[in-house]
Amino acid sequence: MARILALMALITGALTTVLSGVVMAAPGPAPVFGGVATCAGSTCHGRAQGNGAVVRQDELAHWQDPASPAGAHSRAYAALASPRGARIAAALGLGPATSAAACLGCHATNAPPAQRGPRFVLSDGVGCESCHGASSGWIASHYAVRGTHADNIAQGLIALDRPAVRAGVCLDCHGGAARPGHFVTHAMMAAGHPRLVFELDLFSALQTHWNEDADYAARKRRSDHLRLWAVGQAQAVRRSASLYAQAGLRTQGGFPQFTFFDCHSCHRQIDDDPARFKPLETNPARPITLGTPPYNDENMILLSAAARVIAPAAGGGFDTAARAFHGAVSAGRGQDAAAARLAAAAERLITAFDAAPAQRDTAFALVAAIADKTTTPRFTDYAGSVQAVMAIDTLLGALVADGRITVGAAAGIRANLARAYAAVKAPNTYDPAQFRAALGDATRAIAVLR
Ligand code: HEC
Ligand code: HEC
Ligand code: HEC
Ligand code: HEC
Repeated sequence: MARILALMALITGALTTVLSGVVMAAPGPAPVFGGVATCAGSTCHGRAQGNGAVVRQDELAHWQDPASPAGAHSRAYAALASPRGARIAAALGLGPATSAAACLGCHATNAPPAQRGPRFVLSDGVGCESCHGASSGWIASHYAVRGTHADNIAQGLIALDRPAVRAGVCLDCHGGAARPGHFVTHAMMAAGHPRLVFELDLFSALQTHWNEDADYAARKRRSDHLRLWAVGQAQAVRRSASLYAQAGLRTQGGFPQFTFFDCHSCHRQIDDDPARFKPLETNPARPITLGTPPYNDENMILLSAAARVIAPAAGGGFDTAARAFHGAVSAGRGQDAAAARLAAAAERLITAFDAAPAQRDTAFALVAAIADKTTTPRFTDYAGSVQAVMAIDTLLGALVADGRITVGAAAGIRANLARAYAAVKAPNTYDPAQFRAALGDATRAIAVLR
């Protein structure tokens, strides 16, 4: 924080010079990352109060908020230097994590050296340009008086207001990407890296540093929470399947890359007691050989439910592709083709979700679909159950935002939701039956309000 403030002080008053300096310094056509300091002027995004005429202008303060998840991205580089980060890197023999390419892709704006402007600092962590794009192209147009959002996009600003685009940007780090330094392997998990949990609408809300007021709506489109959620699920399936389709990522040594699979299918206790109850549950949507690890299907489950409500015509094709994919992975045959078909089916849903007209009862219908007889038996694993609770949280938020239920009514349901969260709090004691009961209580409480 102090460092950023010092940088802000440096550039205040000399802003235009600094900004145009970055543009002129651009070596050739590759866009240049100016660094957070180029955004942080007090006449730009470094105000103390969010009282700007068009945008808040205190975005920096949100980005580096020390007390909330909103500031997580400014802490991402420091996480590498933390004891946990150092332990992970040491276990993997990577040298200091703060200079390990395998870590920097997601924990910083790791631009190639030739594309770093004079004020670029790697230790800024996940800076503004990690999401909004390298600024050399658009920095001038974006503060021009008559500059439009479309002008900025044409100059390389990323269209984060579009759900599919935003999901792609977030998933590069919150899911994984084929680019170097953007993939959490099982070796990293084994070394102590936390699991990646993500839900587009919820995580967007957690790092909100913008106001969707009238002028926002005039320039862009206000967030449609349901669409963000649904498109987020579809992009996550598409991303996972596309990564799995790459032979270089799919295996590690003589084994599959375990991060693609359900963690607890392997990480559970063996019991030799002949009277033990069978903790494994067969999952109707996963035709796999008993005893093989299931592919992590958390987003497939929710996407399937979303498709049935929002885009039923495309939903059947998706379910077929998902089943075929699980079968191919388990059999070890035709995986590339099956993964490609699954990714394509998810992509068709993104298009369908984008085109689907907003409907009054969609959020209620989605809650019902997540709790119905088709979906519920699929909640046999921890990750899918976490994803379901986040979905209910998001849908409840959308119902309030749309004025379908009152804030007071939603508060009443918070207790049910808290019990569902509690049922997924501890991965090692997760119990599918108990989880399904808690989910059922929460969804029934919401359905009553319809
Ligand atoms: C694919 C992107 C990606 C890669 C590659 C990656 N990380 Fe992470 N890392 C994340 C995300 C996302 C989180 C936050 C997880 C969450 O809480 O949802 C995280 C969390 C962490 C945390 C915990 C931070 C905290 O505040 O508790 C540490 C420590 C960490 N990573 C270290 C590393 C190290 C060391 C490497 C390299 C070996 C690495 N990461 C590689 C994305 C990545
Ligand atoms: C983790 C990704 C991410 C990071 C990092 C990030 N932003 Fe954003 N930002 C978004 C998203 C998503 C939106 C909302 C979509 C939109 O309006 O384009 C947004 C919106 C904004 C807006 C509002 C635009 C409007 O039209 O009202 C401004 C201004 C902004 N960000 C500035 C910044 C600045 C400055 C930083 C760095 C201090 C930053 N952002 C860091 C993702 C990010
Ligand atoms: C360049 C990589 C990168 C991108 C792009 C990115 N993130 Fe992150 N994000 C991280 C890392 C790394 C962390 C964990 C930092 C830590 O805890 O130290 C994180 C943490 C978060 C957190 C806090 C989570 C928690 O448990 O406290 C939220 C919320 C979040 N990101 C939302 C988003 C959203 C929404 C987007 C897309 C608009 C996005 N992120 C894009 C790397 C990224
Ligand atoms: C196909 C089986 C399999 C899957 C799936 C799997 N693991 Fe592992 N995991 C292993 C094996 C085997 C080891 C090595 C055990 C040892 O060294 O004793 C291991 C080791 C680990 C360790 C360190 C061992 C320890 O007990 O401290 C962690 C942490 C870990 N895995 C986390 C995960 C996470 C998180 C996932 C899901 C993203 C996952 N694993 C998925 C088989 C699996």
